[in-house]
Amino acid sequence: MASLTLKTNINRLVGEITIPGDKSISHRSVMFGSIAYGETRVTNFLPGDDCLSTISCFRKLGVTIEESDNGLRIIGKGFEGLTEPDEVLDVGNSGTTIRLLMGILAGIPYFSSLVGDESIGKRPMTRVTIPLTNMGAKIDGRKNGAFTPLSIRGTRLSPINYQLPVASAQVKSALLLAGLQADGESTIIEPAETRDHTERMIRMFGGEIRKDNQMITVKGGQKLKAATIHVPGDISSAAFFLVAGAIIPESEVILKNVGLNPTRTGIIEVMKQMGADLQIVQKDDNSFEPFGDLIIKTSELKGTVVEGDLIPKLIDEIPIIALLATQAEGKTIIRDAEELKVKETNRIDSVVHELRKLGARIEATEDGMIIYGKSRLHGGTVSSQGDHRIGMMLAIAALLSDGEICLEKTEAISVSYPNFFTHLNSLIR
Ligand code: S3P
Repeated sequence: MASLTLKTNINRLVGEITIPGDKSISHRSVMFGSIAYGETRVTNFLPGDDCLSTISCFRKLGVTIEESDNGLRIIGKGFEGLTEPDEVLDVGNSGTTIRLLMGILAGIPYFSSLVGDESIGKRPMTRVTIPLTNMGAKIDGRKNGAFTPLSIRGTRLSPINYQLPVASAQVKSALLLAGLQADGESTIIEPAETRDHTERMIRMFGGEIRKDNQMITVKGGQKLKAATIHVPGDISSAAFFLVAGAIIPESEVILKNVGLNPTRTGIIEVMKQMGADLQIVQKDDNSFEPFGDLIIKTSELKGTVVEGDLIPKLIDEIPIIALLATQAEGKTIIRDAEELKVKETNRIDSVVHELRKLGARIEATEDGMIIYGKSRLHGGTVSSQGDHRIGMMLAIAALLSDGEICLEKTEAISVSYPNFFTHLNSLIR
């Protein structure tokens, strides 16, 4: 377990960083490259631990994946080119890996077993195992198939018409991946729009998919063709520097190459609502995933309400939005976010517990939190609790603190942002 004494009480943040590849898109580039026919090339792939777990699982399924500097070459032979794994598939800390992978494994005629780390062992899997079982897959696991370790035996799949009980891109994507293998057309209905990277990838790989409001339809038996994918920067990683730039005095930070898919830009909406001096420049809307550069300057912030259909568009950014709210005048309410309880940690509890240690005025509610600003933050010993986004949020909180801060379990950060501290240190003046 690694711990680190963090930089505190800094004067300003100035400079430019290029945000590393998007985690969600990097996972999907490996999966689609593996199930398509031909050679897929991926640039700006995120070499974070989660995405490396995805590569390792697909290698065990017989796919050739070569890694080079910042890129991948994947030799796909279709769903039918996947082979039965000799070993257990270990997804590490990655919910996206296990849930999307199950959608693929549901339709191939082999037996696989899936394990992950302690956090994965607590995350609910019935949201994918129930609909995949309805399509025909044979799935079992701990607590009647609700938790890892899981086993899955794929089969010929029947199509599904399914209303998602929770707004989850992972569940939607698992069902679309299974739907691509089913005998007929499957329709998935979302309660609120979630990230649409899987839909965009299906089109990028030459497949067809229809979207009518929150109803998505895909036909089984389509053959996908290899593609060249450039992964844009991860807005969920950029979010830490957007907030840092807004709350540290006399700062100006330029963030290059940030993915601006409208299903992910809730953080920009909320920051603008709170009064942030945030500009989008050089936006490119023509690529399969839009991206651009962002400039953030020190801002006068006010509290706000974050709720409803906006929540899935910023679900991973709520820990850092909570920190932002500690530095805004007045009250911020975050609600309709009970999904936070089933992330890498229970993020309602972990955010509230850790920020309180530093003097923030923050309360947990049933479906979110209430934060009162502005708070002066002081020193202490905090922990990522093994959750990458909690670790990075605390490292940004430390910049404002007037006392020494020790962060425990820093190793979690490499799940999504291996060079986070190098980027942070390069901006500190
Ligand atoms: C993801 C979807 C979201 C998100 C996760 C990545 C994806 O999870 O929190 O970090 O890549 O599809 P849910 O589908 O559980 O909301």
